[in-house]
Amino acid sequence: MKKEVLKLLKESDGFLSGQSICDELSVSRTAVWKVIHQLKEEGYQIEAVRNKGYYLAETADVITEAELLCCIKGSWCGHNIYYYRETDSTNVRAKYLAEEGAVHGSLVIADAQSCGRGRRGRAWVTDPGTGIWMSLILKPEFSPTTASMLTLIAALAVRRGIRESTGIKLEIKWPNDLTYKGRKLCGILTEMSAEMDHIHYVVVGIGINVNTSEFPKELSDKAGSLKLISGTGYKRSLIVGEILKEFESYYQRFLESGDLSPFVEEYHTYLTGYLEPIKVLHGNREYEGIELGIVPSGELKLRLEDGKETTISSGEVSIRTEAGYL
Ligand code: BTN
Repeated sequence: MKKEVLKLLKESDGFLSGQSICDELSVSRTAVWKVIHQLKEEGYQIEAVRNKGYYLAETADVITEAELLCCIKGSWCGHNIYYYRETDSTNVRAKYLAEEGAVHGSLVIADAQSCGRGRRGRAWVTDPGTGIWMSLILKPEFSPTTASMLTLIAALAVRRGIRESTGIKLEIKWPNDLTYKGRKLCGILTEMSAEMDHIHYVVVGIGINVNTSEFPKELSDKAGSLKLISGTGYKRSLIVGEILKEFESYYQRFLESGDLSPFVEEYHTYLTGYLEPIKVLHGNREYEGIELGIVPSGELKLRLEDGKETTISSGEVSIRTEAGYL
C-alpha cells in the first residue's frame, strides 16, 4: 500500500485529503495515517493539515521499491525490483535471484554493500546510502559472444541518464568506467552464466558515487562523486529512473543491430583519450599507442608505435598526461 499512497501523493499538485486516499485505495484512515507516518520516518517531508489533508513537500533520498516505482518510466527495465537496505553485493544477489527465476529486466539495488565487487577480483568500496549500487538481470536470446558489448551499452546509458538527471557530462573510459576530469565516478561489472551457445543470464552491475563527500585516503585522488563535482546532493531514485529509461532504449537499438555499429560515433564523442596516446594493460601485456576508438564488437583499436593497428578485447586504459600515464 505504501507504493500506492506515495504515487497518489506524488501525482497530486496540492493537498490530498485523507478521505480521497481511503476511497481510492479502499483502506481505512488509520491505515493511511500509518503509511504517512512510515514515509515521514524514511525522510519524506509530508505536511498534514486538518481539513486539507496531506501534501508531499519534499521527496526523500531513498531507493526503496515504492520510491523507484514512481521514477521508472520504461516498459520492462526495473519493473521488478529487489531492494535491500544492506546486502553483500548486488551482483552476487542478482546471480542468485536470476538462478531462482527472476525475470529479464529485474533490478537489484541496495543502500549498502558489505562486499561490493569490482573487476579483476578487486573490492568496490562503498559508503552506505551515498551512491547507486545496482545490478540488472538480463536474459537475452543472443549468443554469449555478444554479451561483453552490454558493458559498453550500459556505459552509454549511464552517461546519458546522469546527464539528463543532473546536467553533469561524464566521459567514458573504455570499457567500463565513467570519469570526470580523470576521476572515476562509476564502474560497471558485467558477469554472465552461459553454455557455449546459450546465455542463462547476464548481470550488469553498476556502481555510481552520487552524494559521497569524502573518499578513503587511498582513493582520494582517483575517485569522484556527482556531489563533489556540482556541490549539490541528488535524489538517487531520479538518476536510477533516467538510467533505466536510457538503458531500455539503447538495449532495444542494440538488439536490432546485433552489434555496436549504431553507437560507435556517439561512443567516440565521449571516449576519454580518443585519438591520444594511451597505455592499455591487457593481462600481463602492456600496449602503448594512439587510441583509435572502438570497433562494432566493442574492442578497442590502437595504433601501435610501429604504425601497426591492433584491437584489444579488454583491459585497463591509462591516459598519457604531462605527469605520466594516469
Ligand atoms: C569496477 O570498476 O571495477 C566495477 C565496479 C562495479 C561495482 C558495482 S556496485 C553494484 C554492483 N555490485 C557489485 O558488487 N559490483 C557492482
